[in-house]
Amino acid sequence: MPESRTVARADIARKARLTPVTPRGPETYDAGMRTPPGPPPARNPLQLIRYVREISKDPIAFVGRRFDAYGDLYYAPLGKTKLYVTRHPDHIAEVLLGQATKFGKTEEGRAAERLRRFLGQGLLNSNGDLWRRQRSAINPGLSRRQIATYADTVIDSTEATLDGWRAGARIDVSRAMMALTLRAVTRALFDHDVRGETDEVAGAMTAFRRATGATSLLPEWLPFGPSRHAADALAAVDRIVYGLIDGRLAQDRDALAARGDLLSQLTLPMRDTPAEAMSRTLLRDELLTLFLAGHDTTSHALTWALYLVSTHPEVEASLHAEVDALGRAPTFEDLEALPLTGQILDEAMRLYPPASVVSRWAFEDAEVGGYPIPAGSEVLIWLYWTHHDARWFPDPGAFRPERFAPGAPTLPKCAYLPFGAGARQCVGKHFALMEAKLVLASVARRFSLRVVPDHVVARDFAVTLAPRGGMPMIATAR
Ligand code: HEM
Repeated sequence: MPESRTVARADIARKARLTPVTPRGPETYDAGMRTPPGPPPARNPLQLIRYVREISKDPIAFVGRRFDAYGDLYYAPLGKTKLYVTRHPDHIAEVLLGQATKFGKTEEGRAAERLRRFLGQGLLNSNGDLWRRQRSAINPGLSRRQIATYADTVIDSTEATLDGWRAGARIDVSRAMMALTLRAVTRALFDHDVRGETDEVAGAMTAFRRATGATSLLPEWLPFGPSRHAADALAAVDRIVYGLIDGRLAQDRDALAARGDLLSQLTLPMRDTPAEAMSRTLLRDELLTLFLAGHDTTSHALTWALYLVSTHPEVEASLHAEVDALGRAPTFEDLEALPLTGQILDEAMRLYPPASVVSRWAFEDAEVGGYPIPAGSEVLIWLYWTHHDARWFPDPGAFRPERFAPGAPTLPKCAYLPFGAGARQCVGKHFALMEAKLVLASVARRFSLRVVPDHVVARDFAVTLAPRGGMPMIATAR
């Protein structure tokens, strides 16, 4: 490399180190554009890399420090993206409810492009008419009424998992919940047992986390950039998904109509009215979205709930009393009789929201917190920090399921939103709550869990909030 370039790089590196990170006023970025306070933008590639490295280490703490420094809404442009970051319930309500028609899913930038590479035009990514059509096609299969029909499958899968747990054995509860929720969602929604294929789905999930996590901001050629092997992982999981679709399409029409699972309901119009039905590729995008969104989140919610119960013996004793009062394994009809089980899950998803951040793209000029948000800006809603705000949740770090008990103080709108809010609220919410309640109650009926003594529990945030290094626990039979 010519000497002058080496010197230039060293110079850039020195400047990157020396640039002070101090709050800048609105005028810093764009004359005439009124913006909330925020850190100075990265001014060169090295500064950007340093910034990404810092985020990658602990994105949640990084953002928390920024809220401490700049308040509820800060401005942090990233490359060409005008990025606004908020934690305040009023701002969230403005974006997700009041001005929802002005915002949609991000269509620009590297992270959006990578998300699309995995999930195509699936529900999580799409906008406008396509989203509306797809959401109405999928909604009925995940409605409150429909999910009752899936409960037995969830219970069967759970009992089969628990039958494999040996008292005194070390179990990675995070892995166990991942395998269980994957099996439950695929059996319930696609009438397919994924047991032989969990490695392929886990591989796709890992690649997905890498490709859409903090390092996704970096170019692919960097050695610590996002996985370059994502294509293989994706091809493996595509084989499963297209196999399922083609299997259904090959079925006799009446046999297909008689099947109650969501996949059959979505495939039927492809047989009956192919001109109006969704394409095979779009159905693949929706199935992959439901595969990934439908198990990873629920599995983390359960793992964190089991961990929190294990570290709060008084809550554990009350939970045991609640499930023991049923006198048998919990069923769908028992859900109403398990209020504490539900409150534990609510509180676990407050402390560890599986989807900790939600992003929106402004398609039109909007206003949030009194600041103009120009069309083409991105708004990040850090609901993790909304859930950890002492203004809405006193002593926010404490695990207190009673916060969600009847008679507890009412929360401001959008102060608690593990499933998002508004029209794009999680389509799988009822399924997830039904499943998580049945699984938590079933585990509590049969086992008491404790984290293995030398394991340090820590969070690992990349798209979803997982426990770093799993959750090794010892199970004691009850
Ligand atoms: C505890 C479990 C779950 C949590 C915490 C969760 C969380 C969320 C959140 C916060 C959103 C909104 C994202 C946004 O506004 O940008 C969302 C959307 C979505 N979730 Fe979930 N989810 C869970 C379970 C599920 C399940 C079980 C399924 C499928 C069976 C699912 C499928 C989806 C889909 C397809 C969307 C996109 C909906 C749309 O944009 O119309 N999720 N989820």
